[in-house]
Amino acid sequence: MDNYEFCTKWVTDRKLNDNVRVLDYGCGDGRIVKMLREHNVNAFGCDTFYEGGDYSKLIESELFDNGIIKKINEDTIPFKPNSFDFVINHQVMEHVEDLDSVLSEIQRVLKPDGSVLSLFPDKGVWREAHCGIPFLHWFPKNSRLRIYYTAGLRFIGFGHHKGDKSIMGWSRDFCEWLDKWTCYRTRKEVDTSYNKYFRETQHIEDDFLQKRLGSKKSLVSWLPSSIQQLIVKKLAGIVFVSKKIVIKQTNEQLHPSIK
Ligand SMILES: C[S@@+](CC[C@H](N)C(=O)[O-])C[C@H]1O[C@@H](n2cnc3c(N)ncnc32)[C@H](O)[C@@H]1O
Repeated sequence: MDNYEFCTKWVTDRKLNDNVRVLDYGCGDGRIVKMLREHNVNAFGCDTFYEGGDYSKLIESELFDNGIIKKINEDTIPFKPNSFDFVINHQVMEHVEDLDSVLSEIQRVLKPDGSVLSLFPDKGVWREAHCGIPFLHWFPKNSRLRIYYTAGLRFIGFGHHKGDKSIMGWSRDFCEWLDKWTCYRTRKEVDTSYNKYFRETQHIEDDFLQKRLGSKKSLVSWLPSSIQQLIVKKLAGIVFVSKKIVIKQTNEQLHPSIK
């Protein structure tokens, strides 16, 4: 099972009825939306389609025309408040500059008992996910040293998406791309932001690992859950589920005309 299938199964395992609505936040080319729809889930997607990797051209135009996938403009999720049972975000939050504003938007569109499934690398992972160079995201932005470090590791075989670029050209371009389009956060920073909008966070990296391994899951299932979780956190990133915090509105906010 790959990450996309994991996200799809996470929803279908919880889908209680046909009215369940799911949003894939940062949906990219819409793969999860399409997979969910193949399972008869009422799924939608939205994305800023940023210049760091715009997948919008890979999306069938009818998904845009039918309002199934929408572009995010001015940081607002283009869907109504309290309209989704689940929001998924897969490999998105490490690209988001203002995490609090994104999370408050996700909180807004989730129904009161809704949950959000998040999968993304935090600063604690050992390998920079986009280029495959270990610890590259630990260097300060704009550091020159890391270009030579990247080139050295690339020379001995590390790295992906190499194309036909020279070693130095690839290293320089990737470091520039990382500076511009990624925003790695520590676990503490991630938790601080999530805890403002969500509650009952549950880490499920062990479940993720076993489902990813499929028939080979016995390789790891004997390990304590904490060790399985650590393996995923260091090699891939964090995988967790949180529930919406419902903000209680004052009488005045609910009925502004009544004084
Ligand atoms: C690595 S891709 C992942 C796409 C998709 N979730 C997937 O797994 O195939 C990152 C996606 O995040 C989107 N993105 C970046 N910043 C975003 C933001 N602030 N809000 C929503 N989407 C964002 C990008 O446009 C891109 O589609």
